[in-house]
Amino acid sequence: MDVYSAAVAAFLVAALLFVLALAGLSRHESASLGNSFGILGMAVALLATITLAFDTGVDGLGAVLLVVAVVLGAGIGLRLAGTVEMTGMPELIALLHSFVGLAAVLVGWNGYLHVEAHPRGLEARVLDAAGLLGVHSAEVFIGVFIGAVTFTGSIVANLKLSARIKSAPLVLPGKNLLNLGALVVFAVLTVWFVVDPMLWQLVVVTLLALALGWHLVASIGGGDMPVVVSMLNSYSGWAAAASGFLLNNNLLIIVGALVGSSGAYLSYIMCAAMNRSFISVIAGGFGIEAGPSGEVEQGEHREIDAAATAELLADASSVVITPGYGMAVAQAQYPVADLTARLRAKGVDVRFGIHPVAGRLPGHMNVLLAEAKVPYDIVLEMDEINDDLADTDVVLVIGANDTVNPAASEDPSSPIAGMPVLEVWNARDVIVFKRSMAVGYAGVQNPLFFRDNTQMLFGDAKDKVEEIVRALS
Ligand code: TAP
Repeated sequence: MDVYSAAVAAFLVAALLFVLALAGLSRHESASLGNSFGILGMAVALLATITLAFDTGVDGLGAVLLVVAVVLGAGIGLRLAGTVEMTGMPELIALLHSFVGLAAVLVGWNGYLHVEAHPRGLEARVLDAAGLLGVHSAEVFIGVFIGAVTFTGSIVANLKLSARIKSAPLVLPGKNLLNLGALVVFAVLTVWFVVDPMLWQLVVVTLLALALGWHLVASIGGGDMPVVVSMLNSYSGWAAAASGFLLNNNLLIIVGALVGSSGAYLSYIMCAAMNRSFISVIAGGFGIEAGPSGEVEQGEHREIDAAATAELLADASSVVITPGYGMAVAQAQYPVADLTARLRAKGVDVRFGIHPVAGRLPGHMNVLLAEAKVPYDIVLEMDEINDDLADTDVVLVIGANDTVNPAASEDPSSPIAGMPVLEVWNARDVIVFKRSMAVGYAGVQNPLFFRDNTQMLFGDAKDKVEEIVRALS
């Protein structure tokens, strides 16, 4: 078997390993095995690509550049993976998506410079003779467009998620017309480029797509950011697939399609969980107007201390814990697991209610609780626990805010109106663990804090849970 055929076979093996990785990652129990399949797949793919590159005549300088790129990329990747906090994962993922987007733009431009820029060159003539020149031009144009949208969109998502820019939606006058106009210009230019490719068209589409990506994501409010991250994940997949067509690389096409479709499906599931229209979110918040920032306080709140909370818990027969982003920030999952074990040992029925977008990435809370060895069978989804909350003695809201906000179901003018939430206010007593009266991620005030059956336990969630555990023992 020659090197090329061996590399193609290796690509197919790698693709299969990526499918197994996705299947493994879909369940807690098999996630670690799935991860191993993914790592193995990537190793096979890299090895095959490097071997193929040398076989197709990479010269001395090319070889040096290749080695430098691999060493540099691996070094940065290892450092980032080693230092990133779990809470910083979504912004890191957004940044990685931007690299995929940028790579697709560069591959597209490279394709143009090799073929369309030299219509009498060998590559252009070979493609023309096969009747594939137009297809190549379309691949270049579409790849650059998707890549550039992904690039700037992911950068804005990274900046929003890391709170370096405001998460409130940007509302430009006629924003939907701007987006639509950009798509129409793209469609017209694509046809024109396929018929008569010129440099200026590629320059214009690159700039247009960079602006569109920025605008699309800037227009999306904080509450919808989870969908945006998975949507950009999907875009990065399609960008990679577009590069795969250009580079004639089956593995990139398969992996791009896997990432593209799984990201799109995840976005759809999250939209359903948040009662958002998929089209409206991917169209950059189409039909979603910026709501009031809701920073105004809504009355008096009551406070409680750890000792009184411990007494309340000791007298309760049923307790539900609804964790959120604050539990992750405080790293409170270990004392929370300890508290759970102690209460269960006293015969209290303790369960967890997990909102689909609690935290900053899908499954964030489940991962933290699994890490702290909380038994899976007491960790329930929002839909499984909501009906039981009315019969619950005490709900502990640990570092959650938007996901337990009654305004979502009671105030149609709220920016999170319509998003299903954990109806914790139906319980007999609600204790909210947070450090201040500050708003949550979506930037809206939470009327829960002012309800008669709610008491605020101010302070770092980890410290407070530890104090409760001490008071109980
Ligand atoms: P948030 O609404 O962000 O509220 C977290 C709360 O934790 C804040 O009110 C904060 O209040 C408190 N907190 C922070 N650090 C704390 C600490 N050390 N100790 C105690 N409390 C602390 O969280 P949520 O309820 O989990 O909702 C998630 C939000 O993030 C949603 O709006 C969702 O759309 C968005 N989002 C989700 C995802 C995914 S996929 N899950 C991705 C991106 C965005 P203080 O500052 O007063 O302490």
